[in-house]
Amino acid sequence: MSLLIAPHGGELINRLVDGDEARELSARVAELPRITLNERQLSDLEMIANGGFSPLTGFMSQDDYLAVVDSRHLANGPPWTIPITLDVDAAEAVKPGGEVALCEGDTPLAVMTVEDRYDYDQKLEAQNVYRTTDEAHPGVAALYAQGNTLIGGPVKALALPSHDDFPAHRLTPAQTRARFDERGWRTVVAFQTRNPIHRAHEYLQKCALEMVDGLLIHPLVGATKADDIPASVRMECYQVLLDNYFPKDRTVLSVNPSAMRYAGPSEAIFHALIRKNYGCSHFIVGRDHAGVGDYYGTYDAQMIFDDFDADAIGIKPLKFEHAFYCKACEGMGSTKVCPHGNEDHVFLSGTKVREMLLNGEMPPVEFTRPEVARILMDAAKAAG
Ligand code: ADX
Repeated sequence: MSLLIAPHGGELINRLVDGDEARELSARVAELPRITLNERQLSDLEMIANGGFSPLTGFMSQDDYLAVVDSRHLANGPPWTIPITLDVDAAEAVKPGGEVALCEGDTPLAVMTVEDRYDYDQKLEAQNVYRTTDEAHPGVAALYAQGNTLIGGPVKALALPSHDDFPAHRLTPAQTRARFDERGWRTVVAFQTRNPIHRAHEYLQKCALEMVDGLLIHPLVGATKADDIPASVRMECYQVLLDNYFPKDRTVLSVNPSAMRYAGPSEAIFHALIRKNYGCSHFIVGRDHAGVGDYYGTYDAQMIFDDFDADAIGIKPLKFEHAFYCKACEGMGSTKVCPHGNEDHVFLSGTKVREMLLNGEMPPVEFTRPEVARILMDAAKAAG
């Protein structure tokens, strides 16, 4: 019997059909009206189908949508902070009660039973979920670019979206759970990231790993904003770190196919719930988790956990202050463990690091491991 945490809502959802059901669905799918999904919708479909978004079984109907936007819970109770919606052009021939084929390009991947078709208030969603209505916020911009009608209902998937990258690292929630079970793990800490792992990230992970059985490094590889480092480059960085600095028998590297929302606190809860579905009991939340620009306070993404019933969230946040290398301590730390002042702390802004990499200058080893710096420098040069 598995010793791992139960999925959100109690049951790991699997919307991938097989056998007779798949044959029957494939035979019918060609006749159905089609919606071609964009990158974010495809990744949402993948997460619904593979159980990463348990207990969701489809794109949200109006009751769940309104409950999430108004009160950060699903209509039937569990916490949920990010709407998972499918927008359509109002003119599209999709009627409640009917079925629609959800396609990747020309290929139908899933059939959705349309339960609901409804209008929604983008500004209200922006304010409640993103805490801003500013269209310069990348998550809000993506929301404003959506069609003005949403459709909701359960999906049955014939296949997951196709990927030719990171085939060895695309474990579904059922597969990460099996991997953890094989290793006899009961407690697993997840690390969400959309960046290369620098020394501060490594410090957080290793502090956490002192306390639990295993670590899931779970980089997000769905849609990110254009100036984030591409997932392929990041994966090289993660791999070189694992090969050189992490205990192999206590670490799993696998990708999270979701899209980034940059919703700060709301997304921290969402990221945690997803990792609960992947079998993790603990979740690292550091400074400005899932933040962008100046929209969120440094620790808002930690404080939001206090608004929820800890048992209903289930997975435990491990909250870390801003970490840095201290020259006087000769090691990594944060103001919680280091008594020295800023003059001893190595801080580098993202802009400064980018500048150094482009100039072929190695960022200091106190900031990033040289193996990682080399990969980033080569990538910066190749990108011009
Ligand atoms: S995020 O959008 O995925 O949050 P990033 O990959 O930079 O961005 O961060 C991954 C995790 O590390 C987040 O929990 C973030 O809060 C944390 N983090 C990043 N840098 C630091 C730092 N210097 N000190 C403490 N936590 C950090």
